[in-house]
Amino acid sequence: MIILGIESSCDETAAAVYTDDGLQSNVIASQTIHEQYGGVVPELASRAHHKTIWATVEQSLDEAELDIDDIDAVAVTQGPGLIGALLVGVCFSKGLALARDIPLIGVNHMDAHIYANFIDEKPAYPFVALTVSGGHTQLVHVQNEFDHVLLGRTRDDAAGEAFDKIGKILGLPYPAGPLMDEKARQGDPHFHDFPQSMLNHQFEFSFSGLKTSALYYLQEKDDKKAFLDDHLHDVCASVSHAITEVLVKKLKKAIEHTGVNTVVLAGGVSANTMLRKKARKMTENSGVSLHIPKLEYCTDNAAMIAITGYLKAKKGEYSDLSMKPFASL
Ligand code: KG4
Ligand code: ZN
Repeated sequence: MIILGIESSCDETAAAVYTDDGLQSNVIASQTIHEQYGGVVPELASRAHHKTIWATVEQSLDEAELDIDDIDAVAVTQGPGLIGALLVGVCFSKGLALARDIPLIGVNHMDAHIYANFIDEKPAYPFVALTVSGGHTQLVHVQNEFDHVLLGRTRDDAAGEAFDKIGKILGLPYPAGPLMDEKARQGDPHFHDFPQSMLNHQFEFSFSGLKTSALYYLQEKDDKKAFLDDHLHDVCASVSHAITEVLVKKLKKAIEHTGVNTVVLAGGVSANTMLRKKARKMTENSGVSLHIPKLEYCTDNAAMIAITGYLKAKKGEYSDLSMKPFASL
């Protein structure tokens, strides 16, 4: 079985090939055009996907040393994501399916973040997934393959969104998450106590209060620039501490609540150094095995779409050509 995976939900145009022998290629064309606007501009994202999708697919086939005629099925992100961006991937994939007479597989992007953990490892079911990205923060009880129960999610901003928005307040360019991570590594996480919200709620999250708290904290400084020149690293570390403490404390609760012996991290924020470290510390010597994808499979990629498509194809779960993208799938 040879699956071509295509991802175009936000600002990465990506294609990958997954076969019975594992991942054969993983190509990502990141759109840099959004940097100057401080966030993703949906219309520009759609246009950039349209421009690069064919070259990205061709490169993924070249790297896998395969021809388009070798593909058995095409898997594509159906949602959630930006509707115009999703449309490019879905229409391209439908065209390919129709022209080559191969099946189409619609993939949920958030599910795919979870199954990215299966590219290199085989986490045992049942497990709890902490799915933390730019648009979502969820705790999911994965009872079996594609058998998911949502335990809780954020009421407002996602964890990645909190990193990005607070980073913007600190003057960092978009997306600020990876930069905040880099700076936090040299800072003091206890420099300032930012609020750790909703700890008394079981599995729900809220990060918008933290953003406001960071904004007020900076506004109170007489000379903001001088303060940040001296303490940007410390503020990044303290904000990262507040976010990751909440995530790991709730993950621990979810493990206790469900009684699982396995947990996985998923989504862009699972690339975060402090989160990875804290999750390792929380699970070590606890009998719970922890899986975290390689860095390149944490943020948006098509390898996760291809493997999820592969698992669906194995179950015979195909979509028909009337499949539509859904922004809020
Ligand atoms: O999963 P992803 O690539 O896209 C979505 O599905 O949203 O996640 C992107 C998010 C962005 O908010 C980005 O700032 C954040 O993940 N992110 C990080 C790190 N790498 C990416 N946040 C904190 N630390 C990182 N190392
Ligand atoms: Zn994502």
